[in-house]
Order: sequence, then C-alpha cells, then structure tokens
Amino acid sequence: MKVALKIWRFDALEGRRALREYEVDAPEWATLLDVLDLIKDRQDGTLAFRKSCRMMICGSCGMRMDGAAVLACRTRMGEIVESGRVPVVSAMGNLPIVKDLVVDMEPFWAKFRAVNPYLRPGYTVPPAGREHRISQERMDVIHKEALCICGCCVSECNSMEADPDFLGPAALAKGMRFVGDARDRATTERLQAYSDEHGIWDCTRCYFCQERCPKGVDPRDAIAKLGAEAMQHAIDSDMGARHAKWFVTSSKTTGWLRETELVPKTQGVVKSLKEVKFAMGLAKHGKVPPPFPPHVAKHVSEARALHDLLSAEGHEGAQGIVQSEKALSRIEFEAEQVVDEGGELVVREPYGPGSFPHPKPVEREAEEAPS
Ligand code: SF4
Ligand code: SF4
Ligand code: FES
Repeated sequence: MKVALKIWRFDALEGRRALREYEVDAPEWATLLDVLDLIKDRQDGTLAFRKSCRMMICGSCGMRMDGAAVLACRTRMGEIVESGRVPVVSAMGNLPIVKDLVVDMEPFWAKFRAVNPYLRPGYTVPPAGREHRISQERMDVIHKEALCICGCCVSECNSMEADPDFLGPAALAKGMRFVGDARDRATTERLQAYSDEHGIWDCTRCYFCQERCPKGVDPRDAIAKLGAEAMQHAIDSDMGARHAKWFVTSSKTTGWLRETELVPKTQGVVKSLKEVKFAMGLAKHGKVPPPFPPHVAKHVSEARALHDLLSAEGHEGAQGIVQSEKALSRIEFEAEQVVDEGGELVVREPYGPGSFPHPKPVEREAEEAPS
C-alpha cells in the first residue's frame, strides 16, 4: 500500500519548524513505526524518532498522530490509508522537543524520581531471612499501575500544560503502584507527599490521560485511588480533599449538592469572606439558593440508603474506586487457570479474596446464581 504522512520536523539548533510530506510503499500490516523506518531508510536519513522494542513494551516510540498521543509501534496504518486520510505526526506534548519527533524525557523522569518509585518495605532483610511472599490476588490490586511504560499521558495532560510542576499522571500512577503494594511501609509518608501542592488534587479530571494510555494503566483512576487513600488516612487538609468530602456529606444529608456551602466548606470561612461581593452578585440574579433551610430532596432516604450500602460493602479508600472496564478488557484481565501451592490446577479470579471487590458485584451474583 502507498502510505502518505505529514511530519512536523523541528531543528532545535536553528529553532526552525516545518511540516514535510512523505509517501512510501509499505506492507499492509505496517505500523506507523514501520513507515517512519521506511522513510528514514529510503528517503530522508535526517528524520529523528525514538524506538527500541517495536512491540509495545519499552515505551520509546511515543509521539502524536493528528494531535493525540500514540505508540508508533502499536498504530496500524492500513485503516488510515483505506480512509484516504493523510495523518499529521508530531512530537509528544508537554516535553521540550530535541529534534523532529524526539523529546527531552528528563522532566518526565524528574517527576518519576520525585514519587520514590521503588519499594520501601521497612526492612533490609526479609522476615526470618526468607523471601517476603505476597498473594497473586493482592498483587492484582496494582496490576494495571505496574504496566506503565511510555509518557503518552503526560503529553496529553491539561493540568501539566497549565502547571508544568504538576506531578502528572505517569508519576502518580507509579505512586499508586507502591501505595497499593502490601509490602510497602511508607504509605502515609507517600500520601502526604503526593497530596502537597502540584500533587493529586491538582488534577482537573479531564480523563485525557486515561483515554490515550496505550497500556490500560488508567492513570486518572490511579489518582482517584490515591485521593481516596489519602482521605482514609486523614490526609485531607488540601482544598481538593475538602471539596470531595463535602460532595459526600451534602449528598448524604440532603440528597443534593448544596453549592452555597461548597465554597466555605472547601476554602474555609476566612477565604470565603473575600468572595462575598461575588456571591451577592450571583444571589441578586437568582443564581444562589438561600442556604437556610437546606433544600432536602423528596427521596433523600434513597441517597442515604445508597451511602449506607456502600459503607456496609466496605468500599473504603482505593477499594471504592471502580476499575475501568475498558482497561480491563484491553489487557484481558480475566479469570485464568493457575497451579496452586498444592500443585492443583485452579481458576484464579482477578477479584478474588484480598483483591478489589468486583466492579459489578450485584450483576455478577445474578450471573452466577443457579437457574
Ligand atoms: S500511564 Fe499509560 S500513558 Fe502514562 S506513561 Fe504509563 S503507560 Fe504510558
Ligand atoms: S485526568 Fe488529570 S492527570 Fe489525567 S490528563 Fe487530565 S488533568 Fe492530567
Ligand atoms: S518501540 Fe517500544 S513501545 Fe514502541
């Protein structure tokens, strides 16, 4: 097939940027990375891009196609050619460009290092000198976060664009990988550090990272889990945490989000006083309901019952964050057959004891009920 591409070339020494068009003959199965290789081999040896494994393992070939981050070795060109599209390829966002499609990954690694991306088990020699064993089910809890490789999410992160110091989705997903590890003993210290300025509460929940992650890590879910764990450990002084807590309290007590009280509950009374003039302006135009008496929903008992049900099911901390079905299907995270300690072949459920509760326990029970 004939593959046409436009590539944003960049010469950092001269500071020049130019959009160049290329066309090459490529096999039907060719990926974007194969096409770039062909262009470099046959047409323009000066084209710069990174690659290593060619099989979605190393994370080196992150770049943008038509404005969205992709792994070049995971992107098949066949359908794009069939549609008649000529895609535009450019370097990843939020990182300085060195040349053409190559970015400087140092800011990415600096944030990675900032979350202490290694196990801190609180001992140097395992208990009684033996290895420290952990069940597969307990490791399932951090299975997704352990798959992280590339930086595509950082390229797409809106918060990072506004605040380059924001720790960002990849580093925070790595942080969750250790907060969720049963062997780690630095949980409180980690959660405190990740809850600081530029940390978990600075995420705007745009979900672009989750949408673009090629490995199903679901970094936004990882950030949500960190937030839930932080609150469970009473690390909740940040405005983001107070904001989230008020959503829960308000919906439980009245069945509504009482927005009039949201600002003082989030920012504190003193800071809120500075907003009085603005609030009065809103009230004048009928945009602020009177705070007293609080508006209670007619069926508030249902909201309370839902809250009680979730509390009774023990969905506390990270356990309360539902795993993304999209990611689970993408990585084929299904029940599998394994050999147990006694040598027997058994079915191991990803949501077995010690792991996360199943995201849809009610439906599952119905599925499993004898007819
Ligand atoms: S979370 Fe996904 S997109 Fe981000 S670095 Fe890890 S694998 Fe790449
Ligand atoms: S959800 Fe948060 S971390 Fe992910 S891209 Fe958006 S702002 Fe960044
Ligand atoms: S070359 Fe390794 S992930 Fe693409």
